[in-house]
Amino acid sequence: MESVASASWWAAGVLYQIYPRSFQDSNDDGIGDLRGIIDRLGYLSDLGVDAIWLSPIFPSPMADFGYDVADYVGIDPIFGTMDDFDALVLTAHARGLKVILDLVPNHSSDQHPWFIESRSSRDNPKRDWYIWRDPAPDGGPPTNWLSEFGGSGWEYDEATGQYYYHAFLKQQPDLNWRNPEVRAAIYEAMRFWLRKGVDGFRVDVIWHLIKDDQFRDNPPNPDFRPGMPPHAALIPIYSADRPETLDVVAELRSVIEEFDHRLLIGEIYLPIERLVAYYGAELKGAQLPFNFALLSTQWHAREIAALIDRYEQALPSGAWPNWVLGNHDRPRVASRVGPAQARVAAMLLLTLRGTPTMYYGDELGMEQVEIAPEDVQDPFEKNVPGIGVGRDGCRTPMQWDASANAGFSDARPWLPLAPDATQDCAANLRADAQSILNLYRALLRLRRELPQLSLGNYQPLAAEGDLLLYRRHHQGQSVLVALNLGPDPISVASDAIGLDGEVLLSTMLDRASERVGATLDLRGNEGIIVGRAPEEVV
Ligand code: GLC
Repeated sequence: MESVASASWWAAGVLYQIYPRSFQDSNDDGIGDLRGIIDRLGYLSDLGVDAIWLSPIFPSPMADFGYDVADYVGIDPIFGTMDDFDALVLTAHARGLKVILDLVPNHSSDQHPWFIESRSSRDNPKRDWYIWRDPAPDGGPPTNWLSEFGGSGWEYDEATGQYYYHAFLKQQPDLNWRNPEVRAAIYEAMRFWLRKGVDGFRVDVIWHLIKDDQFRDNPPNPDFRPGMPPHAALIPIYSADRPETLDVVAELRSVIEEFDHRLLIGEIYLPIERLVAYYGAELKGAQLPFNFALLSTQWHAREIAALIDRYEQALPSGAWPNWVLGNHDRPRVASRVGPAQARVAAMLLLTLRGTPTMYYGDELGMEQVEIAPEDVQDPFEKNVPGIGVGRDGCRTPMQWDASANAGFSDARPWLPLAPDATQDCAANLRADAQSILNLYRALLRLRRELPQLSLGNYQPLAAEGDLLLYRRHHQGQSVLVALNLGPDPISVASDAIGLDGEVLLSTMLDRASERVGATLDLRGNEGIIVGRAPEEVV
């Protein structure tokens, strides 16, 4: 069995996603930047995470806020300079924090010099770097493939009389990953950052990289209903998750392997059974294909227990699990499950087997912010308004203190702050002994102290009514996690679960060292961890 010392840093560690535009502004333009992140690294060390992942910071026209890259080896002036970036890596590493970048290889910006060349003529050497096709016989798009952000996935180019494919905005043309020159160019960009000491990449929409070589139409989705995002009208079997994608993932991994101790994470929205294929044959794919199952599950004990079991069973032998509770594309967890359950969700995330990824501000209980129509920034909401797909509400500025704009910026922030931002801010919550922030800090500390929590195996015990109960066991030591997913108290007979020990942590932060008697009593919306205190553990 692996010990904490010998486990990979990313297996035992906790990842923290920063959305750079919204973390900390240092130059008063209302948009967060790298110097701002450097200034807040102390907060992240105090919180107790191990690595930060930054959403894209590369030069970009910002049509999709950085997910439209115009230069894979630069820094957008909005975020600072390459010197700022080097300083960030240096300072983070000095604090023991790893740095993970967002790699966006599926598509570039239409302003990237590669695309400008590619669209300049049919015989340009870079023509085949993107996906160009002749019109269908009726002059329309070559296939029925849809853009995730609404409308056709094909854009007609008058000058050269062909269509190019874009799985997202038309300003985000898809690169042609069947072309070896494209692969080589992106691999070189990866090496550029890896040489700078970057600890890994989160790869954007990795399951989209390869498209059907015969360009077949996607079949209709029989479950499509009005009110769903328009792209859900088709099942994208020919435009994503093609078998050849896994060869590319293995190549991305081999670039990572040219350097020591680096991490490849894949962004993948697929059912669990397909998701786990991205670990690759003989685990030579992504070390962590992001597991987003908790983002869409019903918040019921039995549902969650079933999905944990399904995931654990689907994992290839030796594959390391991971869990995600929030990101910059999905509604805030505190709004999905409510503020009381947000604490239980925190305990779940940080006690499941596998690497947890936290999303900035979730440790403050930040909620989805209502965005007035005139404040909308997200191109998805602009293209497909009014059905709730907008992502601005989970990207609002981090809430630091009680000063103007909650300490995020001295200028008007690019997105509005939450109405209660100066109240529910890091400074106030840090000073409140029972706040959700201090719960996250306590969970992260306990996880660091107890290898059962980071590396132990997962033993499901019960999922009845609102109770979710499991054990984590490592080298002769166990902890028990009991989560009450509902508002009513629950009592569990201790001997029925072979319970022994004391309360190491309650989500309400008020039961430390309480001995567990004949029953384990949970209040409504309470989670507790029971075990032997770290100092008792040899
Ligand atoms: C990923 C990103 C999302 C972006 C999209 C297109 O899903 O997380 O923010 O809009 O890819 O790059």
